[in-house]
Amino acid sequence: MTAATIIDGKLLAGTLRKAVRGEVARLSRTERLTPGLAVVLVGDDPASNIYVRSKAQQTEEVGMKSFVHRLPADVREGELLTLIQGLNNDHRVHGILVQLPLPSHVRSDVVLQSVDPEKDVDGFHVVNAGRLAAGIDGAMVPCTPSGCLQIIKSIRPHLGAQQALIVGRSNIVGKPMALLLLAEDCTVTIAHSRTADLPSACRQADILIAAVGKPHLIRGTWIKPGAVVVDVGINRVTDASGKTRLLGDVAFAEAVGVAGAITPVPGGVGPMTVACLLRNTLIAACRSRRIDIPDLYLTHAAMRNCEF
Ligand code: GUN
Repeated sequence: MTAATIIDGKLLAGTLRKAVRGEVARLSRTERLTPGLAVVLVGDDPASNIYVRSKAQQTEEVGMKSFVHRLPADVREGELLTLIQGLNNDHRVHGILVQLPLPSHVRSDVVLQSVDPEKDVDGFHVVNAGRLAAGIDGAMVPCTPSGCLQIIKSIRPHLGAQQALIVGRSNIVGKPMALLLLAEDCTVTIAHSRTADLPSACRQADILIAAVGKPHLIRGTWIKPGAVVVDVGINRVTDASGKTRLLGDVAFAEAVGVAGAITPVPGGVGPMTVACLLRNTLIAACRSRRIDIPDLYLTHAAMRNCEF
């Protein structure tokens, strides 16, 4: 049996970041505009801390300004809303990201909907979700599904007539992923915890996206031979010896012998998510000044050669 192509998310992300860095330099030179990204972190969740540090570092590496706001876990919701209002009005800030999850005493919906839709680089505001659902120009597209689509198109540039199955129905990944694949002419199904016979549903899929947060839920025998498998899961598990490991939602060692192409965990979807966040920040900065937005969707040729 031939082994699947292992998709190098780090390489694709590096290519996209390079393109963003080039555009940021051009904006700075010709428009005297430096895009800025504000990240808000509440509490001291170790995983969120690592993600936020990495986002800030990559923001600066592409030449953008990074503003990180750390608030204590017991912050009052009102205080958080006041901070976001200030960022909405700050002309140095073009993108705002509130790191999730928020503590349970804070209403996440209220907080996310308080972000100015034009600065909503996560694409979680109802205005952006609505634009995406209705196919109206100007939607900020959530970063993880946006990165997944680029990954899929690096293998299959034309997706018409493909059967796509998304396992997971979250607002962050599953729902927007379905809309993006529908726009690419896939026939899309969303499966979830109540789906009957999930293995059979998976076996129909030419494109399989796993975004459920259950380590190794999807087994090798569930995969259609030759399918493109994208694993969004990042599950921290502690093994018998007390070591922590990151596992995807797909049993990689089994799936790699059946799939046509597959993303690893880590090193697959994660790096592309952050690169898409930087792209969204650049887009938001351009829109704020009505500057034409550069086309930063990687072409198939660019992705194959990994140069822009
Ligand atoms: N936490 C896990 N994934 C995400 C994401 O895509 N955006 C934000 N803001 N927080 C997250």
